[in-house]
Amino acid sequence: MLGGGLVPGSVLLLGGDPGIGKSTLLTQLGAALARNVPVLYASAEESLPQIRLRASRLGLEEAPLRLLCESDLDEIMAQARACQAGLLVVDSVQTIASSRLTGVPGAVAQLRECAQELVRFAKSTDTAVILVGHVTKEGTLAGPRVLEHLVDTVLYFESDSGSRYRIIRAVKNRFGPASELAFYAMTEQGLRGVRNSSALFLTRPERPAPGSVVAVTHDSGRPLLVELQALVDQVKYGQPRRMAQGLDAQRLAMLLAVLHRHAAIALADADVFVNLVGGLEVREPATDLAIVAALVSSHANRAVPAGLALFGEIGLTGEVRPVAYGEERLIEASRQGFTVALAPRANLPRKPIKGLDVRAVERVDVAVGELRSLCAP
Ligand code: TYD
Ligand code: MG
Repeated sequence: MLGGGLVPGSVLLLGGDPGIGKSTLLTQLGAALARNVPVLYASAEESLPQIRLRASRLGLEEAPLRLLCESDLDEIMAQARACQAGLLVVDSVQTIASSRLTGVPGAVAQLRECAQELVRFAKSTDTAVILVGHVTKEGTLAGPRVLEHLVDTVLYFESDSGSRYRIIRAVKNRFGPASELAFYAMTEQGLRGVRNSSALFLTRPERPAPGSVVAVTHDSGRPLLVELQALVDQVKYGQPRRMAQGLDAQRLAMLLAVLHRHAAIALADADVFVNLVGGLEVREPATDLAIVAALVSSHANRAVPAGLALFGEIGLTGEVRPVAYGEERLIEASRQGFTVALAPRANLPRKPIKGLDVRAVERVDVAVGELRSLCAP
């Protein structure tokens, strides 16, 4: 995710909801790095016994990680200097304060000042600094967003409520690729990286339901198969509603217009909801074709075959446009057991992919026709 590692002198912000696993991850990271460089873990949130308890739960009680319970910024920097830390973790930036400023920890002025001081400290000492930031509901603490422009790298920890899976998303990355995702599972022994993550968010129902399709996305540095759902319902009263969860609502509005104009499917007087299952957010236009398929499937109340996966961008003139990484997407769909793919014609692979029937489409009305024939009873 970091494009090769932590850069000395850089500052990284790790944001996320309370309880998601920030301290766990950084304890694991700190303990691993402490074998090579001095690492100082400064916590203003938990007591030493609490941190030790976590470390022993992680099997890390013998790691040479230096712990400091301190909320005073100057003291934290002094200790980091004293031990010549290669990595300083500050957990969390919202609970420390500079004595040069009045104002409680977490107030916007304190937050900015502390972050700026730590950026100067990182640059002048070549220490890598990781700041933990709690994502907060409107309230007493300012959120990590106000610090994004001050730091080199911003990562957010996300999860679907109740799920043991965690995603870290890079939203800013001065030294590596942006929009990377990393996948973890929270286990009894802390966070573990997940391999074969491309189908992590896919649950395969016994019998596919109308309105549910599988999209092959690729906006996270790798192919990712996701379930996309649509519900098209007659409006009972009032204005028709349009809602997009995890997807771009503007894009949905555009696709509805394209469906009307170029495929003669009118949903103007229907409530339309689309949802990306699993709490993910995907912004790439390559989900267009899957959104359209989910809408058509729900509207017709007919399920698409379980082995179908789709991707493709749709243009305003009704054309299905090629997307990047077409072949990777198709190979991944096949690897995950999908047998039919609807894809832009220009993304047809040069060599056939074993076990995958790729139906190339150039226009949205052709795609709708293909879908109807695939859904035929
Ligand atoms: P924590 O790292 O304290 O979250 P944050 O710092 O983001 O607030 O993680 C808290 C949750 O993780 C807590 O509910 C317990 C759980 N957990 C595990 O499931 N396994 C573990 O090995 C550890 C250390 C924590
Ligand atoms: Mg914590």
